[in-house]
Amino acid sequence: MTSQHADNVPVIEDWSHLLDGKVAVVTGGADGIGKGISLLFAAHGAVVEIVDHDESLLKETVEAIQELGAKAYGFVADVRDADQVTEFKHEVMKRHATVDVLVNNVGDYRPLVRFLDSSPDSWKEMYDINLHHVFLVTHAFLQLMIDSGGGSIINVHSVEGMRGYPGDPVYGAMKAAVNHFSTCLASGYGRNGIRVNGMGVDLTQTTQVDYISGYEDVEHLWESWAPVGRLGWPEDQARVALFLASDLSAFVTGHNIPVDGGSHAGGGWFFSPDAKRFVNRPKGL
Ligand SMILES: NC(=O)c1ccc[n+]([C@@H]2O[C@H](COP(=O)([O-])OP(=O)(O)OC[C@H]3O[C@@H](n4cnc5c(N)ncnc54)[C@H](O)[C@@H]3O)[C@@H](O)[C@H]2O)c1
Repeated sequence: MTSQHADNVPVIEDWSHLLDGKVAVVTGGADGIGKGISLLFAAHGAVVEIVDHDESLLKETVEAIQELGAKAYGFVADVRDADQVTEFKHEVMKRHATVDVLVNNVGDYRPLVRFLDSSPDSWKEMYDINLHHVFLVTHAFLQLMIDSGGGSIINVHSVEGMRGYPGDPVYGAMKAAVNHFSTCLASGYGRNGIRVNGMGVDLTQTTQVDYISGYEDVEHLWESWAPVGRLGWPEDQARVALFLASDLSAFVTGHNIPVDGGSHAGGGWFFSPDAKRFVNRPKGL
């Protein structure tokens, strides 16, 4: 039955602290997009539990958050390893009775292997770093999240899981699997208070994907590369993750948002600075 009253819409008390009192787990939160997400979540009042395999970057990020007067804890682990994920979960449970937000962010396209040169070993590597840990970490925390009264899961994948990626179809397939896992999980657990959404990342400056070094002379081409006309930053990704983590998106689940400066939407069309219009062929006619 529909209600005239919005009495089941979560009340947002403080719009400047959208995650007050929440516990957020972020994988790969020591650097890049995961770091951006961890910093913004902490600034919005969450206690952030970061798991990362890079001990020194992890220490730096946790300290940076603590210096802001916010709360974060770091745990060194390789999320591809089931035992290490279980240890991490136990560590988190020592500190908190609940987990409200889970961000599965770890992933990598490297080493990029062309399909004809690839092998079962390289396929397994792509599976482990892009998909297997999403299952492992989600499996580790889902029951706890349900028992805590629900929460939000955000799977950071790639625009390459939403469009054809000629460079490495195996990587594209793994990201597409994360995309669809998000949709399926959302449809299965919505009634348990769990929302699940994915983010299809592209064009974002990080250690892994460096759009600056070696590209200094093509700065002027951003207007053709990305519909928004600029490079993206971890902060751009973090803002969308904050929306998906918080009650701002209380009625959104099962979706995959390209966070890509428009590269997915504009795929196939390029702005030609010479022709001063969009073209869909190599030459601006
Ligand atoms: N940057 C982009 O433009 C872009 C484009 C498409 C997809 N993505 C996706 O976004 C996500 C984040 O990418 P990024 O560019 O920030 O990467 P990044 O390499 O800059 O950062 C990844 C973080 O994860 C950690 N990490 C890596 N492997 C780990 C493991 N096995 N266990 C624990 N921690 C591990 C790293 O130490 C690092 O802190 C990935 O899933 C990536 O595939 C990024």
